[in-house]
Amino acid sequence: MKRLHVLAMPTLGAALLCLPLVAGAQETDPDTGLVKAEGWDTVRSNCTACHSAKLVTQNSGTRNHWENLIRWMQDTQGLWEFQAETEETLLDYLAEYYGPKEDTRRPALPRTLMPDNPYPTVADSG
Ligand code: HEC
Repeated sequence: MKRLHVLAMPTLGAALLCLPLVAGAQETDPDTGLVKAEGWDTVRSNCTACHSAKLVTQNSGTRNHWENLIRWMQDTQGLWEFQAETEETLLDYLAEYYGPKEDTRRPALPRTLMPDNPYPTVADSG
């Protein structure tokens, strides 16, 4: 029933439908969800051993942010040391494809925080 509300809001509906198209502009690895670009397999082999790649793909930030995260995992979570070259590859990739989200919309509000839909819905008119 809640899904029908989207039908009553064509603009929002259209925007939501476009999201996968925009996201699909970059090819992603079906197993990990990582953007397939230079360095991605280095990230896959070093960053998915302890936790899901989702932790990586759902995070974002500057090169500095990623470097701090790596240091934190090295200091407290048992992450191994990288050779300088490997670390460069990791940080280049992370900062490029999972960089700061200045130009994207904030995540959608959870349903529980949304106000009631004031518009008639398909369910009402049926
Ligand atoms: C040796 C194990 C290990 C490896 C390898 C590892 N991590 Fe982690 N990482 C952790 C642990 C443990 C946590 C904390 C998980 C939790 O809180 O549930 C974590 C958390 C994270 C988080 C979430 C941080 C937050 O603020 O919640 C991100 C992002 C992350 N790792 C990215 C990476 C990246 C990028 C790499 C590769 C460079 C990597 N991890 C490799 C152990 C590892």
